[in-house]
Amino acid sequence: MASSRLSITIIIATLAAIAMAGCARKQDDDQRIVLGFSQIGSESAWRLANTESIKSAAATSNIDLRFSDAQQKQENQIAAIRGFIADKVDVIAFAPVVTTGWDAVLLEAKAAGIPVILTDRAVSADASLYAGFLGSDFVEEGRKAARWVVDQFPDPKSTVNIVQLQGTAGAAPAQDRQKGFEEIIGQHAQFRIIRSETADFERAQGEAVMARVLADTKTPAGSKAQIHVLFAHNDDMALGAIKAIEAAGLRPGKDIRIVSIDAVRAAFEAMIAGKLNATVECNPLMGPQLMTSVTEVVSGRPIARRHFVDEAVFTQDTARQAIQTRKY
Ligand code: AHR
Repeated sequence: MASSRLSITIIIATLAAIAMAGCARKQDDDQRIVLGFSQIGSESAWRLANTESIKSAAATSNIDLRFSDAQQKQENQIAAIRGFIADKVDVIAFAPVVTTGWDAVLLEAKAAGIPVILTDRAVSADASLYAGFLGSDFVEEGRKAARWVVDQFPDPKSTVNIVQLQGTAGAAPAQDRQKGFEEIIGQHAQFRIIRSETADFERAQGEAVMARVLADTKTPAGSKAQIHVLFAHNDDMALGAIKAIEAAGLRPGKDIRIVSIDAVRAAFEAMIAGKLNATVECNPLMGPQLMTSVTEVVSGRPIARRHFVDEAVFTQDTARQAIQTRKY
């Protein structure tokens, strides 16, 4: 009799312990911030590093990340953001593929009381529609690339023909890098941008577009124009263009000097091989700062309207040393 009373007591105690553990877990789950994040896609090595940074920072910050890949389409991003609003997430963050067309969905998020943080790329929308922006100064990146070009060709009497491979049409980094580059180049009479073509930030398109440019860029007199410099808005397009330049029988890095933006590991390898001359850093590792900003907006604290990350310029002289510590 005594032993069956003891068994009942043990069973009740065990059930109570299970119920309490369940309760504690529920409380933990309830306290986790839910972040809906819409990523542009996976068009470049930079983007993959950015995604990885956001996912790992969310995991270590105990933030419940709902991640959505828009595969380069604005309509997919808008649908994902609407899904996050319907799911009543705590915060929405997204890297907008292009600058325009966000007002309606941002207004919907605001009406639902969900703060929005922009990462990587800015939008043309009223600043009251989002809590803040975290990313790079793309105009300054374009200026840095141009300053490198200007340093390479100091003779004001020798004309320098430049080809520009642009990122996605309508995207902030494509617009701003072009703006910064042209601002500096325009101050020196010897430089001429003879072609500007979009290759969508992708390596395969960089190769295809550069092959076409090499084949059909003519002087006003109709003969083939000599290209002295390639400015690519990202490393992936430059790496694709390097293949096209080699296929055309030219030496990338020598016959055509090349500067690009991002500073991904493959760009360092190309610099060490002498095929790429310089790369301007664009830092994708914004996951930890994003998680800090998410926590702050949930606590009702304001975040910086624009939070820029520090970035450097790397050349063939510094590539071998710098690649040792590259994280992406
Ligand atoms: O918005 C950042 C740009 O987007 C990076 O330079 C590029 O590689 C990426 O796809």
